[in-house]
Amino acid sequence: MSNTQGTTGLIGWIDERFPLTKSIREHLTEYYAPKNFNFWYFFGSLALLVLVNQILTGIWLTMNYKPSASEAFASVEYIMRDVNWGWLIRYMHSTGASAFFIMVYLHMYRALIYGSHKKPRELLWIFGVVIFLCLMAEAFMGYLLPWGQMSYWGAQVIINLFSALPVIGQDLSVWIRGDYVISDATLNRFFSLHVIALPLVLIGLVFVHILALHEVGSNNPDGLEIKKLRDNKGIPLDGIPFHPYYTVKDLFGVVVFLLFFAVVVFFTPEMGGYFLEHPNFDPADSLKTPLHIAPVWYFTPFYAMLRAVPSFAGTQVWGVLVMAAAIFILFFLPWLDRSSVRSIRYRGWSFKLILTAFLVSFLILGYLGALPTTPARTTMAQFCTIIYFAFFFLLPVLPVFEKTKSVPERVTWK
Ligand code: HEM
Repeated sequence: MSNTQGTTGLIGWIDERFPLTKSIREHLTEYYAPKNFNFWYFFGSLALLVLVNQILTGIWLTMNYKPSASEAFASVEYIMRDVNWGWLIRYMHSTGASAFFIMVYLHMYRALIYGSHKKPRELLWIFGVVIFLCLMAEAFMGYLLPWGQMSYWGAQVIINLFSALPVIGQDLSVWIRGDYVISDATLNRFFSLHVIALPLVLIGLVFVHILALHEVGSNNPDGLEIKKLRDNKGIPLDGIPFHPYYTVKDLFGVVVFLLFFAVVVFFTPEMGGYFLEHPNFDPADSLKTPLHIAPVWYFTPFYAMLRAVPSFAGTQVWGVLVMAAAIFILFFLPWLDRSSVRSIRYRGWSFKLILTAFLVSFLILGYLGALPTTPARTTMAQFCTIIYFAFFFLLPVLPVFEKTKSVPERVTWK
């Protein structure tokens, strides 16, 4: 005899006690996604894949890593040279960190071009921004663990920024470090947060991110709400079941991604010093400051903004605030973007212009943030910082003169 899900046997037994078939239907075989997903829709599932890679390789790294100032650097060398396949696990983890940010930046850019942050997906976007913040903290703490020169001095520079904050700054930076300088205490707490606390939070956030997505349904390159037009069974006319159609499409993305990933892991894991910085092959030395301290590439746009702001009366507080504002302004995007049209396909030239300026200035900032400063570079970084913020401040006024195109009834699909 079958149950409400029409299943029998072992599956039927489970279904009477746990929503197995129900969940598979709701989230896979009867989750109707727009049929016009394109290249840009690969990066959500790829970010998920990289998350799994980071967790698995992280578990195996932790088996041989020693979170102590006197042993950390040597334990990483031990993993690289003596542990069976240790070099592979480590390079998969370090390359995975950069791949994570590449996937997430592309994923966020997709949301920008197709207006996926707009109503009713505001909360989905906000969960995304919290994920981004959490990911930054996770990467920053992970970077201290190999206890190389850049781990040490990079953390020193960033944590010192907190001391620029008025009143609480000094105490706050001591509280974060657990000491007056970066030390064994700092390494221990960063290890604990990097290995346990933040991954747990990240997994939880990704779960609610996808739950929110399935509540409102996916957006698409046309920015149309496919739930509006349904057939007589209530199935969206422009929707197709996520499984098997998009599981197969995503699998194709996975294979292509893994090809690129393997090329980096096997042939150029340092990526010319961008994925693994050269000074980090020297053990941390609190008495020897490297000539040039720069964060890993994924932080450099924000770092460039920080350095672009001149310090007033010997304090960097304004730079810190500008850098923080550059990230926190993302939370407000759904309300700053007031266009009646979602997708870039139907938006006017003015939006395309400011979006291109925003993208180019972000890339230039990323480039400048990796280099030592010169007066010309600082002026350039100031100019790009202004463009970055101008994008957000122009968005609400754009609809006044933006000429949008008419949006079709049905998704366009070749
Ligand atoms: C660990 C990181 C992340 C994972 C694993 C993840 C996962 C996903 C997945 C699987 C989807 C559905 C497939 C797709 O649309 O590509 C999705 C959609 C979405 N994500 Fe993320 N995401 C992450 C980070 C972010 C971030 C940082 C943001 C924005 C700040 C964001 C914003 C969105 C939005 C707006 C959608 C809906 C897109 C649409 O329907 O057009 N996500 N995410």
